[in-house]
Amino acid sequence: MLWRRRYRRSTLLLIVSLIALVYLHNFSRRLLGSPAAHRAYQPSWRNTNHAKRLGKDVPEEKELVVASVESDDTRWLNLHFDTWKKNVYVVDNASAPLTVSVNKGREAMPFLTYIIDRYDTLPDVSIFIHSSRYQWHNEDPMYDGVPVLRRLRLEHVLKRGYVSLRCTWEKGCPAELTPLHPFYRNDERSLAEQAYASVFRQLFPRDEVPGVVGAHCSSQFAVSRARVRARPKRQYERIRDWLATTDLDDVVSSRVLEYMWHIIFRMQAVDCQDAGECFCQTFGLCNLTCDREKCRKRYWLPDHKTMPAGWPENGPGTNGWPEKGWAD
Ligand SMILES: *[C@@H]1O[C@H](CO)[C@@H](O)[C@H](O)[C@H]1NC(C)=O
Ligand SMILES: *[C@@H]1O[C@H](CO)[C@@H](O)[C@H](O)[C@H]1NC(C)=O
Repeated sequence: MLWRRRYRRSTLLLIVSLIALVYLHNFSRRLLGSPAAHRAYQPSWRNTNHAKRLGKDVPEEKELVVASVESDDTRWLNLHFDTWKKNVYVVDNASAPLTVSVNKGREAMPFLTYIIDRYDTLPDVSIFIHSSRYQWHNEDPMYDGVPVLRRLRLEHVLKRGYVSLRCTWEKGCPAELTPLHPFYRNDERSLAEQAYASVFRQLFPRDEVPGVVGAHCSSQFAVSRARVRARPKRQYERIRDWLATTDLDDVVSSRVLEYMWHIIFRMQAVDCQDAGECFCQTFGLCNLTCDREKCRKRYWLPDHKTMPAGWPENGPGTNGWPEKGWAD
């Protein structure tokens, strides 16, 4: 019948057009380079806006994961990083939009909670930080977290998989812990060292306990999605279960993890890059004068761990804190 023939003809036409489309698409892809060649980092505006218009769920380029307590002032994040997606965990407020089921292990609990809850929807890069803008361990002459985050080179995080937000070796490098030969003293560092081997065996029963562990201090780091997923979600759940049930003090359990994150994210047990190389690759500061452990005018290890109230307006030049402008 006529309508049937016409139907058949239009079906044929449709199939031919579809084949042509697929062919053209592949051809243009080959012209523009394979997807693998494009795996290098692309700023999100290039793909995100387009995909969002098409209604697709595209991961964020980067997200901040912030460990905080209710009394912390996190307004600086909105002020300076208003367009960045932020996950602010408030560990001591059960009604907060993001919180933890057990407030143990300091920043480690929210960090693990984020990884577990977001395992399937991770951004390209997750940046794990503490909540205060000024902290003694921020890699900046005035301990300011803003330039640290501004300068962080996401394409390098994607390439390396994991980076610490510090480059100066003091503290943590080149050898923070010798888990198999711990010091039997009663300070925080030694207690973490004493606990390390047994925790490690429990969390990674198939791996050998490293003889030396070295990594930049302070539990602020950035990780690519691929590197997080280099371990199964179950592994992170196992670590969180351990943290939720361990008898160790928070200062000790969080310190054990402070020097385990890099191993969790598949770096060598000693992950201590030359300072100059690190500053250049991680932060784009490539013209510094450095030795292996530090660069000039970048960091001054203070005597105290609590920033003076009102820093940097109040405090510089007093009590062992550096002068304003000391690094200019
Ligand atoms: C806890 O978080 C909720 C929701 O953000 C907030 O309304 C409340 O004031 C917070 N509680 C305390 C004690 O700060
Ligand atoms: C690098 O540092 C040197 C000496 O401090 C300076 O003379 C030079 O202009 C700097 N180069 C760049 C590109 O900033």
